[in-house]
Amino acid sequence: MTNIYQFYINGEWRDSSSNETVSITSPYLRKEIGKVQAISRDEVNEAIQAAKVSQKSWERLTVRERGEYLYKWTDELLAMKEEIAQIIMEEVGKGYNDAVKEVVRTVDLIRYTIEDAVHTHGESMTGENFVGGSKSKIAIVNRVPLGVVLAISPFNYPVNLAAAKIAPALITGNAVIFKPATQGAISGVKMIEALHKAGLPKGVLHLVTGRGSVIGDYLVQHSGIDMISFTGGTGTGMHIAEISNLIPLVMELGGKDPALVREDADLVFTAEQIVAGAYSYSAQRCTAIKRVLVNEKVADQLVSLLKTGVESLSVGSPEDNNTIVPLIDDRSADYVQELIDDALEKGATLVVGNKRESNLIYPTLLDHVTPDMRIAWEEPFGPVLPIIRVTSDEEAVTLSNESEFGLQASIFTKDIDKAFALTAQIEAGSVQINSRTERGPDHFPFIGIKHSGMGAQGIRKSLESMTREKVTVLNINN
Ligand code: NAP
Ligand code: G3H
Repeated sequence: MTNIYQFYINGEWRDSSSNETVSITSPYLRKEIGKVQAISRDEVNEAIQAAKVSQKSWERLTVRERGEYLYKWTDELLAMKEEIAQIIMEEVGKGYNDAVKEVVRTVDLIRYTIEDAVHTHGESMTGENFVGGSKSKIAIVNRVPLGVVLAISPFNYPVNLAAAKIAPALITGNAVIFKPATQGAISGVKMIEALHKAGLPKGVLHLVTGRGSVIGDYLVQHSGIDMISFTGGTGTGMHIAEISNLIPLVMELGGKDPALVREDADLVFTAEQIVAGAYSYSAQRCTAIKRVLVNEKVADQLVSLLKTGVESLSVGSPEDNNTIVPLIDDRSADYVQELIDDALEKGATLVVGNKRESNLIYPTLLDHVTPDMRIAWEEPFGPVLPIIRVTSDEEAVTLSNESEFGLQASIFTKDIDKAFALTAQIEAGSVQINSRTERGPDHFPFIGIKHSGMGAQGIRKSLESMTREKVTVLNINN
């Protein structure tokens, strides 16, 4: 019998009154590793109601007092590091060492978030600067919490991307309703166990589990929610944006990050960066390099180097820290295979790969990909990389910008002036010069434009997005 995990409401662990659970199957063990509660609408109401009440007293604490709880949370997370990493590995199929790194990165992120919040302060202004103004009006501008934040996280970083929402929300005085990805919910339970052990006052955070397709719309449209911080697929994000109330939204969505390789690039270094950026964790990263736009003059050389790199990738179980691991489920593997088949049918060249064992897709490299192929535009979230040969920088920029996505892009070149000129033309939240695309360091702003998101994450940006300015005007009348 596998474990049945409870949900967390008002400082208690409970079974749902629905008497229903959702089974969690490991992507590589291919067997059930546990069940989580499928909570009811009444329980959602109860959680949000309790959050509303508790938020008031939580907000009244000083930022340092709130920080003390969060520091204890980081201590508990470190004490549970191996246990949490084991669950991440089993639940989402991430290599064990990377799962440990995820927990440690999360601790670093929470601690930096506390420190940044502690060093944030308001400002004051006087009326004298405006036309006809006077010094007798003084505005005190402080940041205040929004209320109850709904944090919805994806499967691929079940601890880190959840904490990147929970920590800034809590430190700034908000209460949190945390809805983890169902595949990732046991990892969510574990990280909240650590928060519970840290003694977080009851009612300040609630962990609500159940399928997004069942409770998602109800949560998102609930009048008790004051802000939504969402990370996940573009389709889900657009749906949430359409149905939610008039509340602030931060959305981090899908991507199709291009690597633009100019003819003057250091090709050995470029190939290493592209292989590392495109294939780790079987490319189940929003920031994975998802297409290469290479100048035709150096394309043969680059493809040959990439082929060598891809052939050397380790494939197999996450327990052995392989780079290429089974995808999160069979449906995801079917989708990746569809994209490969479509490209090959339309004339792409298979350089390496196109081998599959159920949900394990071997690393695949496709050359001579053209714009009529789906793989040129769609996000596979699996280990297949298309190479599109271009004749000029202008063509690379045009293809880059024709994508519906705009998360990150990489430019590989030795000409720094050209790199800056191209950066200015590329439609993306961030452009990396001579590096693979990646989110960290986690205090950098992390921004998706177009269908890659709205608003910004990154520690300071998250603190800002979960608070609003409040102005108190002092009028001196004598
Ligand atoms: P997903 O299927 O969109 O799910 C994301 C979250 O949304 C899950 O918690 C899911 O719950 C929930 N959800 C589903 N339907 C909902 C609804 N109607 N209302 C509210 N919540 C709902 O995404 P995923 O497969 O977990 O993650 C992969 C995608 O996320 C990729 O496209 C990737 O690029 C993107 N991503 C983006 C970033 C970024 O920062 N830009 C980071 C990581 C991932 P259930 O699991 O219960 O369905
Ligand atoms: O999947 C999306 C994550 O935000 C990517 O983070 O670039 O550190 O892998 P990463």
